Amino acid sequence: MMQIKPTILVTGGAGYIGSHTVLALKQSGYEVIVLDNLVYGHQDLVDTALKVELIVGDICDRAVLDQVFETRQIAAVIHFAAYAYVGESVAEPLKYYHNNVLGTLTLLEAMLAAGVKTFVFSSTCATYGIPDTVPIPEEALQQPINPYGASKLMVERILADLDRAYGMRSVCLRYFNAAGADPEGLLGEDHTPETHLIPLVLQTAMGLRESVSIFGTDYPTPDGSCVRDYIHVMDLAAAHILGLEYLLKGGKSDVFNLGNGQGFSVKQVIETARQVTGELIAVVECDRRLGDPPVLVGSGKKAKRVLGWLPQYGELEMILTHAWSWHQIRHGELER
Ligand SMILES: NC(=O)c1ccc[n+]([C@@H]2O[C@H](COP(=O)([O-])OP(=O)(O)OC[C@H]3O[C@@H](n4cnc5c(N)ncnc54)[C@H](O)[C@@H]3O)[C@@H](O)[C@H]2O)c1
Repeated sequence: MMQIKPTILVTGGAGYIGSHTVLALKQSGYEVIVLDNLVYGHQDLVDTALKVELIVGDICDRAVLDQVFETRQIAAVIHFAAYAYVGESVAEPLKYYHNNVLGTLTLLEAMLAAGVKTFVFSSTCATYGIPDTVPIPEEALQQPINPYGASKLMVERILADLDRAYGMRSVCLRYFNAAGADPEGLLGEDHTPETHLIPLVLQTAMGLRESVSIFGTDYPTPDGSCVRDYIHVMDLAAAHILGLEYLLKGGKSDVFNLGNGQGFSVKQVIETARQVTGELIAVVECDRRLGDPPVLVGSGKKAKRVLGWLPQYGELEMILTHAWSWHQIRHGELER
């Protein structure tokens, strides 16, 4: 007999990483409710690809949250809802502290009021700032260099205090660069505006952009361009389920990096995309951007050891192949 699994509330579940995690939760037999205000999320993906309940609401709205917790038996919350544009966070810090910190506080207050004390949080490698060592271990100094990273670090610290005071247990997952798409082609990355390298490269391959910019070609890296750790979104999704189950089984609060421990340069990504797509992909070499660390690579060893995380899609070709088929499907749908 199949065991009935608990209901999980996923905030930001209509967004990129959230929607892939909802898919993985469903595949693992969980009941899922998505709460998303749709500022950046896609209702069509929740309705047609995921077919789960979507509550269109804001994490800053306590009344909506109270209603959700009062009317459903929610066992745990996986919290993706946030703003995540680094440059915008520098220009509009209040917007980021309001949504990412105050919104999360409102959610946590509503959870505590309802007695829900299990929380999986989307943190980020941006909490480390410019690292001294790579691959970055979890105990590395956290010195964010922008309000986005600072807002996520504030939540990590709040969560540590809430555990001590109220016994709210949490897992903070510090992701490196999320990339790729559901291999079945149901879901993928669709940000507007788009700032992530892989979608920008693929949109250039599709002829939707003239060229892709390489910011900085004189970094102390093998080919002079920045090196980043790209982690397949389905591997991220799997880690959320492991983090959730670790907590549901009584695990103590903890933090985990989600990275492959291997970096690829901007030029390597573009070259691999040329091979995967068969397209030329024009590039423009530009000056460095302020605050871009030369190398950001994360050690995922602790997540492997403690959570049993086993990334399935570490190869860059695979990440690009899945993202490329999604972009072709999504663009075809939007044109129709
Ligand atoms: N994409 C990455 O590479 C990456 C890396 C590290 C961390 N993260 C974190 O992962 C999470 C998800 O990132 P993503 O790339 O899927 O972003 P996304 O923008 O695709 O998803 C975020 C979702 O949250 C929703 N949302 C935002 N504010 C909300 C609010 N106040 N109330 C309700 N819903 C709200 C948006 O509509 C969107 O659907 C974010 O917290 C982000 O900071 C992402």
